[in-house]
Amino acid sequence: MTLDAALADRIRQTPKAELHVHIEGTLEPELIFRLAQHNKVKLPYASVEALREAYAFTDLQSFLDIYYAGASVLLTEDDFFDMTMAYVQRAVADNVRHAEIFFDPQTHTERGVPIHVVIDGISDALAQARTQYDFSSSLILCFLRHLSEEDAFATLEAALPYRDRFVGIGLDSSEQGNPPEKFARVFARARELGLHLVAHAGEEGPAQYVTDALDILKVERIDHGVRAIDDPALVERLARERVALTVCPLSNQKLKVYPDLRDHSLHRLLEAGVLVTLHSDDPAYFGGYMNANWEAAFEALPLTAADGHKLARNSFEASFLPASQKTAFLAEVDHFWQSPLPAAASTA
Ligand code: HPA
Ligand code: ZN
Repeated sequence: MTLDAALADRIRQTPKAELHVHIEGTLEPELIFRLAQHNKVKLPYASVEALREAYAFTDLQSFLDIYYAGASVLLTEDDFFDMTMAYVQRAVADNVRHAEIFFDPQTHTERGVPIHVVIDGISDALAQARTQYDFSSSLILCFLRHLSEEDAFATLEAALPYRDRFVGIGLDSSEQGNPPEKFARVFARARELGLHLVAHAGEEGPAQYVTDALDILKVERIDHGVRAIDDPALVERLARERVALTVCPLSNQKLKVYPDLRDHSLHRLLEAGVLVTLHSDDPAYFGGYMNANWEAAFEALPLTAADGHKLARNSFEASFLPASQKTAFLAEVDHFWQSPLPAAASTA
């Protein structure tokens, strides 16, 4: 299917919120090599080209192995700052107005990088982005699910002195064999602390993991969640309870969740009334940032302008922004989609 030029323009230009992006997944090969040289970290790849060539993933684990190797070049506050600022500039170019950004502290603390280096570097860049680009953002601390719950508890404890720098916790890394219930206690603790809760579920794992993330972890949003489609009662529940699924089309394609995007469940989920949102996940690894993901979805699936408007609205609706800011962004989205197309775009 080819995407109508006027609609392509609209989806690129609409204000949108990014709710599923791992900051370590925005590290471009060029920056990986620059930091490796500067920090004298040895990489198992001879060049930027050789690293890019290794981005031929067969599943989630084959990606994670390379993603953790890439993140090993991050050592100083400046490194985290530069990575974050590079992401912000790409997001701004795609008309992302607000981002809720994941970071994986354990990937760094395991290598001896203190958690304050990670949090200060990222949050200093986001503070600068707020004034420089009027870019709104918050952080979500993710636990690596292949590690123990005890390790997650220690990470939460170490992060608490910086409680004002993040709004929630998430759960990522290898899903198979690491079910939601493994992290029941640490999620309960985070809930007591007033943190927002999200978790990756139903990416490679079954629909049951989506149900368990809701019932056991009590998460407010599900990251990916595309396999919910296998359970019609769950799809109905997601729609009824207005639980957002933060869907990442290019990630799902590259990690072979949906090798052909024409088969992707997002259109069916949207039609069933589920609050679907579209995001980039690990854009440096999966071939594109927000607009590339939106374009890929609209090219592969019979999505309309009304769907574009809805997906943009959903992204702010599902955010953890305070009600007043949410309302202001939603008004901006509505105004954008209700305005006539500029002449150049409508005749393109
Ligand atoms: N899934 C699980 N863990 C991750 C991902 C993902 O898509 N990206 C970064 N960590
Ligand atoms: Zn993810």
